Amino acid sequence: MRPFLCKIFSVISAMLPLCAVAADTASSPNGRLQLSVDVNDNGQPCYGLTLDGNPVIKNSLLGLSGREADFTTGFTVRNVATATHDGTWEPVWGEYATVRDHYNELAVTFVQERENGLTMTVRFRLFDDGLGFRYELPEQEPVNYLAVMDEATEFNLAADNTLYCMPGDYDTDEYLYATSPLSQVASALAGYRGRHSESQAIDKLTVQTPLMMKSPDGGMYINIHEAALVDYAAMSLDVDTLNYGLSAHLTPDVNGVAAYVQLPFNTPWRTVIVADNACDILASQLIYNLNEPCKIEDTSWIKPQKFVGVWWEMFIGTQRTWAYSDYYKAKPGITDYSKLTPNGRHAANTENVKRYIDFAAENGIDGVLVEGWNEGWEDWASFRKNRQFLFDKPYPDFDIDELQQYAADRGVKIIMHHETAANAADYERQLDRAFQYMVDHGYNSVKTGYVGGIIPRSEHHSSQWMVNHYLHVAKRAADYRIMVDSHEAVRPTGLCRTYPNWVAQESARGGEFESMGGNPPEHTTILPFTRLKGGPMDYTPGLFETRLSYYNEGKTGQALTTLARQLALYLTMPSPLQMACDLPENYKRFPDAFQFIKDVPVDWSDSRYLEAEPGDYITVARRDKHSQDWYVGGVTDENARTAEIDFSFLPKGVDYEATIYADGKDAHYKDNPQSYSITTKKKINHKTRLKQYIAPGGGFAMRLVPKK
Ligand code: NOJ
Ligand code: CA
Repeated sequence: MRPFLCKIFSVISAMLPLCAVAADTASSPNGRLQLSVDVNDNGQPCYGLTLDGNPVIKNSLLGLSGREADFTTGFTVRNVATATHDGTWEPVWGEYATVRDHYNELAVTFVQERENGLTMTVRFRLFDDGLGFRYELPEQEPVNYLAVMDEATEFNLAADNTLYCMPGDYDTDEYLYATSPLSQVASALAGYRGRHSESQAIDKLTVQTPLMMKSPDGGMYINIHEAALVDYAAMSLDVDTLNYGLSAHLTPDVNGVAAYVQLPFNTPWRTVIVADNACDILASQLIYNLNEPCKIEDTSWIKPQKFVGVWWEMFIGTQRTWAYSDYYKAKPGITDYSKLTPNGRHAANTENVKRYIDFAAENGIDGVLVEGWNEGWEDWASFRKNRQFLFDKPYPDFDIDELQQYAADRGVKIIMHHETAANAADYERQLDRAFQYMVDHGYNSVKTGYVGGIIPRSEHHSSQWMVNHYLHVAKRAADYRIMVDSHEAVRPTGLCRTYPNWVAQESARGGEFESMGGNPPEHTTILPFTRLKGGPMDYTPGLFETRLSYYNEGKTGQALTTLARQLALYLTMPSPLQMACDLPENYKRFPDAFQFIKDVPVDWSDSRYLEAEPGDYITVARRDKHSQDWYVGGVTDENARTAEIDFSFLPKGVDYEATIYADGKDAHYKDNPQSYSITTKKKINHKTRLKQYIAPGGGFAMRLVPKK
């Protein structure tokens, strides 16, 4: 936590004239963004950023303080180095086949000119779409090892921007977003509660990143996050509602230390994506550009995929269970699993899994996720035992060998589930055995989970120790050629560029909440501006039966979506790993709509954001990486809207035939979610302009195939 004194200091210093004359300046390649860097009267480094001369970040302090040394004040500028880079790289998967990495760099070295004075370089990179900077602490005489207590980094805003935000919470990001002027954020977040009992670490004047903002006049969009979070604590932002200020707030450990670092050390990049229209925020690749190139040499085994799973049936109130027995009801603390009596409702049984495999094989779906296959679910997160799950012990009714053969014969991959109940320590102990067990049984993907309070017990989901854990798992998985989809892990920061086997994460409120009160339609119009800037989300779209009463007359809950919107999510929430989350029997009820899920790719060669407004709507077009087909999808919030699609992105001289999956005229996310229409348009080309109606809480999806 940021010490109180430090807070006072930053309030006072915000009133002093900082960086009156910039010592150094730099601009983005197109010249629109201007950065200024200086030291203030206390010798504290500071910076400011403008777009077309308008302030984005007013003069803001830099630096970090450690237990052994303080890298905040007493500095002068010793050296300034500039560089320019313009290159491209090819992601293994993603929204684009090629990404341009074009920036001007300013590396400013600050020194304390005294005996035992410290040295620190702040490296700034200015792209056309924003700024990244990080602290680089070289190996040096005065200190070589540092317990980082606090980061002084500020982002002082020029106005009372609108925030799309959730409260600071060291353990979860599974919240809905509040939309509020910065000055009112305390009341906007007043109703939020911490979600992890042992770590009620939730501060209503702290917000999480990626933080999306919009200027009061609507002319500027800003996203603040971080890139390449490695060996460091995640950053949240303290809000100064009087001065429109934001300042870094690092997740501490039980000793109040954010990170233990050995010098030389580079912090993660602090990122400010800025644009004068919302589409450019969505298109920005800045966070990936600030991550290291791919470190996996042979990536041929990393395969984007769609999957179904033994999953949703546990959420819909039909009493299907992850657990094999009901033993926990009688007596918690199981030691002997061989004595369990089956409850008859265990979903991950061999016959049921075969049903999903058959369905996947029949429909060209690559994978089948199976949750609840292994011992430990009877009392899983309840008692926080030092050993809960075993990752090589299937329940007796899950025949892993038989299923391996069955899936292989049908060309389907089973996706392993490793729910750790947040016992990361024990997961690390079992990791090699667990991965070897996967390899031995033909698995090449794992969904991990960290539900509950972390073990080691003093740690948080976003603390340095856990940040290191998730990356360790992803790297180790790569050694075994395993792809990872982590749930309840720290919010991503673009590391999937470096480790593309880390194909997706949850790390936000996903589709599962449609069974627990629902995700209001605006949620999925905000996530692409926030959570998705760090990497793909395993959101689990594809819900066709939205009412829980369909399964159980007594239930009243429902998902807050139309059916057509669920198709649109495959385009507006891009991921190389996309679930078709509903039950096979529901897809069989709507085979014509399911056709879209069968067709839609999960890897793209190009993407064009056509219309967007955070909290309101998104329309995007994408080109399949493996064909000339284009797809267009759009979603709205709870209000109906008409998307205006300008097809000028299509290549000239080619006509396309479009299949359009749209909300019916009478569709509504609450009252009539399953009203949809499927129509074809015989000729669409780069001159076409099309109006497409979207129902309240709805969406549309199109497939465009070039005509022969
Ligand atoms: C929470 C995950 O997000 C969900 O997908 C999973 O089914 C449960 N935990 C159980 O692991
Ligand atoms: Ca979750």
